[in-house]
Amino acid sequence: MISTAPLPSPVPLPTTLSRLDLPSVSFFGRTLAEYSQFFALDPVTLRGRAVLDVAAGPASFTAEAFRRGVDAVAVDPLYGCTPDALATHVALDYARMFAQLRAKPELLRFRSFPSLEAAELDRRAAADRFLADYESGFLHSRYVGGALPHLPFFDGAFDLVLCAHLLFIYNRKFDYDWHLAACRELVRVSAGEVRIHPVCGADGRPYAELNRLRRDLQAAGIASKVTPVAYEFFRGTSSMLVLQRAAA
Ligand SMILES: C[S@@+](CC[C@H](N)C(=O)[O-])C[C@H]1O[C@@H](n2cnc3c(N)ncnc32)[C@H](O)[C@@H]1O
Repeated sequence: MISTAPLPSPVPLPTTLSRLDLPSVSFFGRTLAEYSQFFALDPVTLRGRAVLDVAAGPASFTAEAFRRGVDAVAVDPLYGCTPDALATHVALDYARMFAQLRAKPELLRFRSFPSLEAAELDRRAAADRFLADYESGFLHSRYVGGALPHLPFFDGAFDLVLCAHLLFIYNRKFDYDWHLAACRELVRVSAGEVRIHPVCGADGRPYAELNRLRRDLQAAGIASKVTPVAYEFFRGTSSMLVLQRAAA
């Protein structure tokens, strides 16, 4: 029998991709295990090496790497705040971010976590480990206050420099010139490689100015390549940008 009930109105297809709303930079962090995936790292090979995590936030990469014998240092503009103030940033920014991710499941790919709940547990564990390490780490200069594009370190001070979830994700806050200056600064403090993740914006699309950026870096004597990584959680996050001073 044919129903006479009114047809539901069709759900309109999105004309543009949805995106994360990021009015300010979130104090949000991930574990060493997640860093190892999206930066294609083997922590064992980092033992004894100087590694800098830039825009580290409440990530536990530095705390965990330090315990494994890595000479790890983290830098973030909020370091220098009291532990209580940082715990408040974590509470507010995690609540906002997870509410948004729950509301926009189309932005997620479950390649590295089985569910959003699993990702939330893991990232909350990262913040707990960071907060437990912060006070003594700050006293020992493992956590250093500082911001791109001017880092408080000597040229070539680190064997490896990492920067996750700042540069291209926040491409509405930071313009092209800022991105170029930030990349040059990351290379300045590195004696080896710089790895930047992800290479997409808050809508999961590849960073629109990537080719121009790579050309300008090349002109400044910096080689670059985009490398796929065995990771994806937020849509479009399965690669990293690798920078290295070009051989003279
Ligand atoms: C989304 S968190 C990323 C944390 C960590 N890298 C990760 O991937 O889990 C971004 C961090 O960048 C920091 N930040 C904001 N502006 C910055 C700047 N100009 N230079 C360096 N870090 C900045 C914020 O304080 C925040 O902790």
